[in-house]
Amino acid sequence: MFGFGQLIDILKKSPKKIVFTEGNDPRILEAASRLLASNFLSPILVGNEAEIQKAAEESGFNIRGAKIIDPLHFEKFDEMVTMFCDLRKSKGVTPEQAKGILSQANYFGTMLVKMGYADALLGGATYSTADTVRPALQLIKTKPGNSIVSSCFILVRPSATGENEVLAMADCAINIHPTEDELVEIAGEAAECAKIFGVDPKVAFLSYSTLGSGKGEDVDKMRNAANKTREKYPELPIEGELQFDAAVSPRVARTKCPESKVAGHANTFIFPDINAGNIGYKIAQRLGNFDAYGPILLGLNAPINDLSRGCNASEVYSMAIITAALA
Ligand SMILES: CC(C)(COP(=O)(O)OP(=O)(O)OC[C@H]1O[C@@H](n2cnc3c(N)ncnc32)[C@H](O)[C@@H]1OP(=O)(O)O)[C@@H](O)C(=O)NCCC(=O)NCCS
Repeated sequence: MFGFGQLIDILKKSPKKIVFTEGNDPRILEAASRLLASNFLSPILVGNEAEIQKAAEESGFNIRGAKIIDPLHFEKFDEMVTMFCDLRKSKGVTPEQAKGILSQANYFGTMLVKMGYADALLGGATYSTADTVRPALQLIKTKPGNSIVSSCFILVRPSATGENEVLAMADCAINIHPTEDELVEIAGEAAECAKIFGVDPKVAFLSYSTLGSGKGEDVDKMRNAANKTREKYPELPIEGELQFDAAVSPRVARTKCPESKVAGHANTFIFPDINAGNIGYKIAQRLGNFDAYGPILLGLNAPINDLSRGCNASEVYSMAIITAALA
């Protein structure tokens, strides 16, 4: 079962460098000071050095030893501009435009990963999800074999037996209206992500209908996606379409779909769209007492993740470890 100790062990064997795009945010500084006190993950703070040092002093966090990189004084800036123009040549970006774009920490930080100065990136303490994710989509791109970047949340709740209860939910943050084929990719990626967190994935494609009890295009989409996913990943336990109660309650599953091996025991949930997914994970978090980690971006060529703007320092610290351990 999932514990942060396992992820820290991974990093201790292979320490990594992680970029924080909002280098002078007090929550980032607190998380960075905690990371600096350990020896498994080195923070790189993007921003003006004097401003970052002043913010750290004012908020009382020791960031001695942190690497601080200011886009305006980065010695490889010209090289970065050239590389950026090359990566965006299909869009006709000029060096002048590139300089302006790369003076923004979200693009600059993403290029640090692209150029190999860092292994991972965590942003979004002040940037919106779209502004954190867009540079990654444009510059880091999807990994070979994938057609989209998607995301999942890992939800963790201590159970009565003392073992953490761990669930995966996707896609709650990136793809607004995924197609059937995109849902297949989302499910495959989410199941792989669930495994990293100690979950033996049992995948439910969620709907307002259970195996034909309701009718409509959205029902067909989830049923077809479940069938296609089963064809693509024959070893993966999959059911769909399922209502949420049939997916998680053995009692309801016995009534609504007694033949299903997944219904009643699902732990990896695929939502029909971002509305349902985003609302769904937040209900688990706010009313179900689950801790929510994510969105963890799936299908990207390098580990880059987004924070909620409402995050606290402890969440920044946890997400930094998750992000870097995936590197
Ligand atoms: C992810 C998101 C920001 C992309 O939107 P966008 O930047 O307007 O998208 P665009 O269509 O302009 O695409 C920008 C680039 O990203 C690529 N892209 C967009 N979505 C992608 C995806 N899901 N996977 C891979 N690449 C993607 C495009 O191909 C394009 O690449 P290019 O510039 O090299 O041609 C958008 O889907 C979004 O806002 N999602 C919801 C985010 C959110 O608010 N979540 C809730 C809070 S957690």
